[in-house]
Amino acid sequence: MSENSQVGVGSPDAQVSSKRGIHGTWPSRWTFVLAATGSAVGLGNIWKFPYIVGENGGGAFVLVYLVCILVVGMPIMVAEIMLGRRGRHSPINTMRYLTKEAGLHGGWNAIGWLGVTAGLMILSYYAVIAGWALHYIGHMASGTFQGVSAEQAGIIFGDLLADTNTLIFWQSVFLLLTMGVVMGGVTKGLGVAVRVLMPLLFVLLLVLLVFGYQQGDFARGFSFLFSFNIEALTWKGVLIALGHAFFTLSLGMGAIMAYGAYMPDHARIGRTVIAVGFLDTLVALVAGLAIFPIVFANPTIAPSAGPGLMFVSLPVAFGNMSGGLLFGSIFFVLVTLAAWSSAISLIEPAVAYLVESKGFNRFTANLLLGFIVWLVGLGSVLSFNVWAEARIAGFNFFEFMDFLTSSVMLPLTGLFIAIFVGWIMKPQAVREEMNDEPSSVFFVWRWVVRYLSPLAVLVVFVMGIYKTFS
Ligand code: TRP
Repeated sequence: MSENSQVGVGSPDAQVSSKRGIHGTWPSRWTFVLAATGSAVGLGNIWKFPYIVGENGGGAFVLVYLVCILVVGMPIMVAEIMLGRRGRHSPINTMRYLTKEAGLHGGWNAIGWLGVTAGLMILSYYAVIAGWALHYIGHMASGTFQGVSAEQAGIIFGDLLADTNTLIFWQSVFLLLTMGVVMGGVTKGLGVAVRVLMPLLFVLLLVLLVFGYQQGDFARGFSFLFSFNIEALTWKGVLIALGHAFFTLSLGMGAIMAYGAYMPDHARIGRTVIAVGFLDTLVALVAGLAIFPIVFANPTIAPSAGPGLMFVSLPVAFGNMSGGLLFGSIFFVLVTLAAWSSAISLIEPAVAYLVESKGFNRFTANLLLGFIVWLVGLGSVLSFNVWAEARIAGFNFFEFMDFLTSSVMLPLTGLFIAIFVGWIMKPQAVREEMNDEPSSVFFVWRWVVRYLSPLAVLVVFVMGIYKTFS
């Protein structure tokens, strides 16, 4: 199927009747699993999850997060794939078609717009953090961390944050890499890359886990992650856990909807989502189990160290194990690749929209969007040095972007998606798309999406926002 085909561009209706979009279809359900896993497993799992666990007190937060994945994340992932497969377009046009199909008010299109905007905003700071990982590849290989103490590792990281030019350089490199792949179309290369790299990443995490077990304070790390301490839990923390469930599964912005648009008609969505959710959760938990034992063995690293946690604790581990410099470079290469396969899904929906509806080609769409994302990203770069003291609603710029997207936009879009699928779309249209699901599975899923997910998101969102600002 030609990517350049102009047939039906800009008119969702012409496409849907044939049940095929202009971008083609994944050859199998497994290709979709790989692409979705590539999108889901990223900085969220290895970098963000451990530090927000640290900032929010550990075990209780982890439990709430797991509940959010099960009750909200996976059911909404099913909904997003289902919507994408029915619309067969970029999220904006998919929502446009589906609202038309249901004879609804165009306001529901906001789901598409909110999502695409959130994706670009996330990418703006995602590229900055991925830039740190890129920078650390060279640091590791050149021996900077040979035998370092936790204190020294902290100083090296602090020096990086103070160095605006280096931050901008690596942020730009990462964005160029991302644009490069998306310009060429996502289907080629990525599936293969993910199939090789994800297992490798997992093996290296296991190596670190073993190091943490032997050299770190494993018992304390383990109990920090898994012991339930209700006092440590706040409404703000619950909101962050909910937001992270969306973030880590790539939900609430149309990435999964866009990938769902390329899914074969007769693939069972439920099983697919279980596979993606399981792999994603496993990587996050193993990353936590690798990082916290090292943190607790080194009193100079605080569990609540924030965004720098992984960049301080892991170099200490690598710098003090035999062959660690090699493993360390490989590890940061893989973190970069995991971030890369996620970043692609952050920009793809906006690119697909510009191509479908605004007459752009992939090249120019990427140039334009990449530039905007880069510009906004400078705000995050500066928030680690020059603007460190500047505050928006109590957050620095990076924290603000993260809070606004993860804790506000993703859950809200998710809420709208649940309401749309559970209450607004015609039930037979939903059942049609879920035809290959046994009726018991369908029944349970639909119930959860109608009642449990929206209610959970609504309560957590309202309470979380209220408590965060009061
Ligand atoms: N899930 C990715 C991670 O954990 C980030 C990501 C990729 C994302 N695509 C997304 C987050 C879409 C939200 C929405 O690193």
